[in-house]
Amino acid sequence: MTKGYQMPTGFLWGGAVAAHQVEGAWQAGGKGVSIADVMRAGAKDVPRLVDDQPLAEQVYPNHWGIDFYHTYRDDIKLFAEMGFKCFRTSIAWTRIFPNGDEALPNQEGLQFYDDLFATCQQYGIEPIVTLSHFELPLHLVTAYGGFRSREVEAAFLKFAQVCFERYYETVKYWMTFNEINNQAMWRDPHPLLQNSGLLLADTENAEEAMFQAAHLELVASAKAVSLAHLIDPTLQVGAMIAMTPIYPLSAKPQDVMMAERAMRYRYYYGDVHALGTYPAWLRRYWTRKGYDIAITEADQVALQNGTVDYVGFSYYNSLATEYQADNPHYDYDEARSVVPNPYVPRSDWGWQIDPVGLRYGMNWMAARWHKPLFIVENGYGAYDQIEDGQIHDDYRINYLRDHVLEMEKAVVEDGIDLLGYTPWSAIDIISASTGEMKKRYGLIYVDQDDEGHGSGRRLKKDSFTWYQQVIASNGETL
Ligand code: BG6
Repeated sequence: MTKGYQMPTGFLWGGAVAAHQVEGAWQAGGKGVSIADVMRAGAKDVPRLVDDQPLAEQVYPNHWGIDFYHTYRDDIKLFAEMGFKCFRTSIAWTRIFPNGDEALPNQEGLQFYDDLFATCQQYGIEPIVTLSHFELPLHLVTAYGGFRSREVEAAFLKFAQVCFERYYETVKYWMTFNEINNQAMWRDPHPLLQNSGLLLADTENAEEAMFQAAHLELVASAKAVSLAHLIDPTLQVGAMIAMTPIYPLSAKPQDVMMAERAMRYRYYYGDVHALGTYPAWLRRYWTRKGYDIAITEADQVALQNGTVDYVGFSYYNSLATEYQADNPHYDYDEARSVVPNPYVPRSDWGWQIDPVGLRYGMNWMAARWHKPLFIVENGYGAYDQIEDGQIHDDYRINYLRDHVLEMEKAVVEDGIDLLGYTPWSAIDIISASTGEMKKRYGLIYVDQDDEGHGSGRRLKKDSFTWYQQVIASNGETL
C-alpha cells in the first residue's frame, strides 16, 4: 500500500460523467435532439459518422447511454458509498431548451435536474456542473451554424441564466464549455462539432472558422461568469481545459521552441478565460494567415469583466513535438506536429500514459493563469473482464494511484491551490470519441455492450474499493 500526502480539509474528492454519455432517454421528458444524438458508433481509429438527423435504420449509443435518467438514485447511492464529496455531471441543454431557441424552458427537464441535484444533496454530495459538454441542440447547428452565430451565443447565455437562477442554491460550482481547447485539433471534425456546433463547407477554412467560433464561446463564457455573479456572488464559475502537455522530443533548441509554440497555441483559450484578453502573438498569427476574426469592443469588455473563478481541467495523457525544417514559423498543427514519445507507455487506445505530466501541467497552468485549479477528469479507458463476478482492474488502480501521487505532490510540495479531483468516470459511460461501451473508464461496471444489450446491472470494480479508502484517508492511503 502506497502512502500519499493528505489533502487539505474540504478537498472535493468525487467522480465525473457527462449527461449525454450516461442519461440515455434521449426523447424522454420533452428532450430535443442534440448533436450527440446523431453520432453513430465508431471505434479506435474509426471516426463516428454524423447524420443530419436521427435515422430509423441507424443506432446511436447516446440514445441509451447507461440509462442514468432512470437509475440516477441508485447510482448516486453507490457514489455516496464510495465516499464522494462531489459529483460532476452536465445539464443536457436539450432537456431545458429542446431546440435551443425556444422562448421558455421545458419544465420537465428542469424538474429532472431539481431531483438529480436534490439526490446529491441528500447524500452530502456537492454537484459540479458543466453547462455545455458536447451536447448542443442540433437545431442550433442546422438553423444557425453553431457558434458562428451571435444568436447561438445569446441562446447559450439564456440557457446559462435559466440554470443559474433555478439551481444556484444547490449548485455552487459551474463550468461553461467542456474542453473548449480541443478545437485546436480542428482537422478532426468532432472537436469542431462537439465544442462549437461547426459543420464545415468544403470551401471553408477550418482553422479560421474555429478561431471565430471559439471567440463567441469565450465571450459567451465570460458573460455567463458575470451573470452568475450577479445572481449569486458566491457562485464559482470555471473554464474547462483539456490539459495535454506538449513536450519537446529532444533538447534541440528548435524542438524546445516548437513545444513552446505548441503549448501557447493549444492553451490560448485558457489565457482568454483567465486573463480576459487575447495574447499579442495570436493577433499577429491571424494577420499573417489573413484571418479576419470579428472581435468587437463590447466583446473585449465582456472578456475583461468575466474572467473565470477557477480552471477545471481534464488530464489523460501528454504529447511530444519536434521542429520540422519546412515550418520556419513553428506553426502548430496537431495532425502533423505531434510525434510519439518513446519514454512513455500507451493504453490500448494509444493514449500515452504519463503521470508526471499531470504535475507538470498543473504547475504550467498555475504559473500562467493564477487561478485555483480543479481536476475534473482523469482516467483510464480499458477493456474490463468479469472473472467470478468481479472486475480486477489493477491497471486502472495503478493509473489512478500514479496520477493521484503526482497531484498530491503538486498540492503539498508545489503549493498549488487545487479544489478537488473527480476521476473519469464515476461509472462506465459511452466513450465520447468512439461511442464505444467497451472503452471503460468507470469505478463501477455497467453490464452493457456496445450495442446497448445487457442487464444494465451495476458491479463494483476493485477500483471502487481502492478509491473508497483513498477518500476515507483524504488521499493518504493509496
Ligand atoms: C474528454 C471528455 O475528452 O475525455 C469526455 O470530456 C470523454 O467526455 C473523455 O469521455 C474520455 O474520452 P473518450 O473519447 O475516451 O470517451
